[in-house]
Amino acid sequence: MELIKDIQTMRSYIKRIQEGKIVGFVPTMGHLHEGHLSLIKKGREESDVLVVSIFVNPTQFEPGGDFKSYPRNLEWDMKLAEAEGVDVIFAPSVEEIYPGGYSTFVEVEGHLTSILEGESRPGHFRGVTTILAKLFNIVSPDRTYFGEKDYQQALVVRKLVRDLNLNIEIVPLPTVREQDGLALSSRNSYLTPAERKAATVLYQSLLTAKKDIARGIRDATVISSHMEDLIRGQPLARIDYVAVIDPETLRRVERVEKEVLVAVAAKIGQTRLIDNLKIG
Ligand code: PAF
Repeated sequence: MELIKDIQTMRSYIKRIQEGKIVGFVPTMGHLHEGHLSLIKKGREESDVLVVSIFVNPTQFEPGGDFKSYPRNLEWDMKLAEAEGVDVIFAPSVEEIYPGGYSTFVEVEGHLTSILEGESRPGHFRGVTTILAKLFNIVSPDRTYFGEKDYQQALVVRKLVRDLNLNIEIVPLPTVREQDGLALSSRNSYLTPAERKAATVLYQSLLTAKKDIARGIRDATVISSHMEDLIRGQPLARIDYVAVIDPETLRRVERVEKEVLVAVAAKIGQTRLIDNLKIG
């Protein structure tokens, strides 16, 4: 496995290796866990050359957010990636990606980026689409892999790729969960033992919605309020949003007539977590 830290070397590597080969790409912010590894495993199966980027992207964090404290451990990540047969880790510095005077941003406008995470974290998706546009340009992948825990992000990236006519296939993969249902996330490492226990309330709230729908409840307001009641019963949790939405458009639905996405964001102590479930 190679470690590449600058854009020029990354470009030459891809150019040299690419002829007739499928390049798979897993963009990450590091602190790799089983969720990332599921993307890496799929990428390894489907690609001749597999690149994983590790870059904690400052432009997608809100001011006062956890950019500085975000967990970083390149050495450990490299060990995990090497064991999965990754060919290249691309781990540029912030200065390499955003040199002094940097002023260009890529933004998907409209509904998709202005609700849920877009509403709660203004500027977040602008940062995500900017870094991904840059990484796609540097790595030139054929396929790129995203976890459905960040469901809205995967839709935003799909839109970015379509709107910019990028020749890249977006492969979304299911959320990986702990045994008690908590969705894997690098931010879970911020949780104290008590908060870690409390955090299962997010997945429990999604299961409540699933049970409601299975029982024939169709009114989205009733489903959301049952979810909210459950989360409010957990003293360490503070709801940011609960939403019953169309999985393609992310528009809120009033009645559940077909498949819906149920999404939740809440703070557990100081840590903001998100989760979602598609319910048929
Ligand atoms: O999902 C993430 O880890 C990040 O948003 C991504 C896609 C690597 C962009 O920085």
